[in-house]
Amino acid sequence: MGKLLEIRNLTRKYYEGTRESRVIDNINLEVDEKEFVIIMGASGSGKTSLLHLMAGIDNADEGTIRYKNVDFGQMSEKEKTVFRRTNIGIVFQQNCLIPDLTVYENIMLPLMLDRGKGKRKGKENEKDTITKLCGQVGLEEHIRKYPSQLSGGQQQRAAILRSIINRPPLLLCDEPTGSLNSAQTEIVMRLLNVLNKKGQTIVLVTHDMKVAVKGRRVVYIKDGRVSGELRFSETNPNETNEKEVYRRREEELLNFLQKRGY
Ligand SMILES: Nc1ncnc2c1ncn2[C@@H]1O[C@H](COP(=O)(O)OP(=O)(O)O)[C@@H](O)[C@H]1O
Ligand SMILES: [Mg+2]
Repeated sequence: MGKLLEIRNLTRKYYEGTRESRVIDNINLEVDEKEFVIIMGASGSGKTSLLHLMAGIDNADEGTIRYKNVDFGQMSEKEKTVFRRTNIGIVFQQNCLIPDLTVYENIMLPLMLDRGKGKRKGKENEKDTITKLCGQVGLEEHIRKYPSQLSGGQQQRAAILRSIINRPPLLLCDEPTGSLNSAQTEIVMRLLNVLNKKGQTIVLVTHDMKVAVKGRRVVYIKDGRVSGELRFSETNPNETNEKEVYRRREEELLNFLQKRGY
């Protein structure tokens, strides 16, 4: 499997007055194609900042990010925007739905942007896809509503569908289940797992152990640095069902996190 992302000596600084703080401090990280990587770390450790750099929304002060052979540092803002549109889906911590568009129109938006101006109507097969996806995450009755008419959890699910509708090879998710209850979280994680199995690469930030065990590798960020990585061990033969696998992974993860003072 090839590398999808290659991050080398990445640093992002902010200034408070003259005081410099390194929000991302010399991070090295690689993400392979078709991987499902989880990022964990205390609040303020730099997880969102890292995701924004991976998306090319924010620019590094030092170091490089390559997406296959494309170097973000060598691209103009415009080039990055166009590149992002077809290659990277982002689920933000705040869901960022457009208030004047319905759920359906919000989800359709990336497809319309791909197609260019003036072609706002969805094709029949796209309508079917959106209806089907909404059904899968329990939004079927809300397709024609506006974001303000939805709960936080419903908005979040709509935002997730919007970022996967054009099947970007890389999906970046910042605490996508943060405003969901456990049943909704389960639904969303199943959906993400299906997408991953179909070949999409996923990088997902979470605080939730039950979510983290659905990935294969956990990267722990502390003070803007990678302070450890955990690769869950292979499923062993006496684990007869999914539940046992996740329970065992939870133990591995708890042990890993406790060693890092989480
Ligand atoms: N635009 C900014 N200007 C100054 N400081 C920032 C900015 N964005 C984030 N930070 C700081 O960087 C640190 C990491 O933030 P963030 O990446 O959002 O952390 P996390 O997502 O892990 O909670 C925090 O201390 C935050 O206050
Ligand atoms: Mg954050």
